[in-house]
Amino acid sequence: MNTILVTGGAGFIGSNFIRYALIKDKDVRIVNLDALTYAGNLISLGKLPDPKRHTFIQGGVENSELLEKILREHEVTRIVHFAAETHVDRSIIDPELFIRTNVIGTYRLLMAALKYWEERKILDDSIVRFHHISTDEVFGALGKNDPPFDENTPYQPNSPYSASKAASDHFVRSFSRTYGLPVTITNCSNNYGPFQYPEKLIPLVILNALEEKPIPIYGKGAQIRDWLYVSDHCDAIWKALFNGTSGETYCIGGDTQIENIELVKMICRILDEKKPLHSGSYEQYIHFVTDRPGHDFRYAINCTKIKQKLDWKPKTLLHDGLCATIRWYLDNIEWVKAVRKKPSYQEWITKNYLKRG
Ligand code: NAD
Ligand code: DAU
Repeated sequence: MNTILVTGGAGFIGSNFIRYALIKDKDVRIVNLDALTYAGNLISLGKLPDPKRHTFIQGGVENSELLEKILREHEVTRIVHFAAETHVDRSIIDPELFIRTNVIGTYRLLMAALKYWEERKILDDSIVRFHHISTDEVFGALGKNDPPFDENTPYQPNSPYSASKAASDHFVRSFSRTYGLPVTITNCSNNYGPFQYPEKLIPLVILNALEEKPIPIYGKGAQIRDWLYVSDHCDAIWKALFNGTSGETYCIGGDTQIENIELVKMICRILDEKKPLHSGSYEQYIHFVTDRPGHDFRYAINCTKIKQKLDWKPKTLLHDGLCATIRWYLDNIEWVKAVRKKPSYQEWITKNYLKRG
């Protein structure tokens, strides 16, 4: 029986992963530690398959005492560490919070895991694992014709967010090399799908379009991202967690590079079919606004290693994934209302977009 401590499990990818794990393995137990920041919502954990195998604990990953108690009481054997501050634009406004959660929080979790597994004498790769969820943003930005990032690309983070994730990756690696903690790291490209907080591009575009509000595109919308449907990401994490080699890093991507403006137009065309306006296309709401400072031009991932070593590949085509995502937001307006009801949502929208014109 495996007990997996999932941190950040009330967020976008974490809540999808918990659902995935409970279905994938009928014997697994999940302990979910989440601070319930603006991005964490218990409503995302409603209707879990077999909820008896899921325990929710509200708390921060910086709380060493709490971490030690959880590891001990639940006899945790695997950790999947999602908890983080994740929005690049917020990191530009308040970098310190990113250092606290992403760097110090990761360090404290590593320390607690090492101490607990060492004390129990189970610091062995066949029994325990610390899996760290990271991002392709640690590698910096690509030009149009550069080869995609892979596991050998040097780190060159450009935003406070990516700098904090890079620092956390380095700490994870150092705990493996120095103390023998069994770890794996995955660096993934942009995710999309159900339960994504509507500050990120895809849900923001879907909801603004449906409400016939301006759809904000930073700069000229020429930046390129490599999009991955969230359940494909969960599948890759599961494989890395159970079959990945300790000490290794795996890059995960969608093999789907597209300019922001083209992606937004694609969403508008799908909405035109699914929920036609009285007149014209949703594209009429596209509105170009002041660019993000230090905006990375392009991310793209070469995921040959995880394909070859762990037999994983992205399965969901972008158009299909977008249709499913749009359907989910249309069918889950109660979720949208609940997460946007918190004052923090409107405060953020005003703070980020008012000054952009
Ligand atoms: P999210 O912002 O939707 O969720 C983050 C979760 O972490 C929330 O539930 C929040 O309450 C929780 N949290 C924040 N601070 C915490 C703390 N101090 N202690 C405990 N919980 C805390 O994020 P997401 O998009 O689901 O991303 C999850 C992870 O995946 C992050 O580590 C992120 O860097 C990484 N990642 C995300 C993407 C993406 O496209 N979304 C891509 C690659 C990697
Ligand atoms: O690449 C992985 C990363 O993807 C993750 O590590 C981050 O946690 C996640 O937030 C995401 O970062 P991005 O900055 O790429 O995602 P975001 O949805 O914020 O923006 C996607 C692109 O769209 C980016 O080029 C900025 C642009 N954008 C974003 C917003 C919110 C706009 O043009 N308008 C917007 O209003």
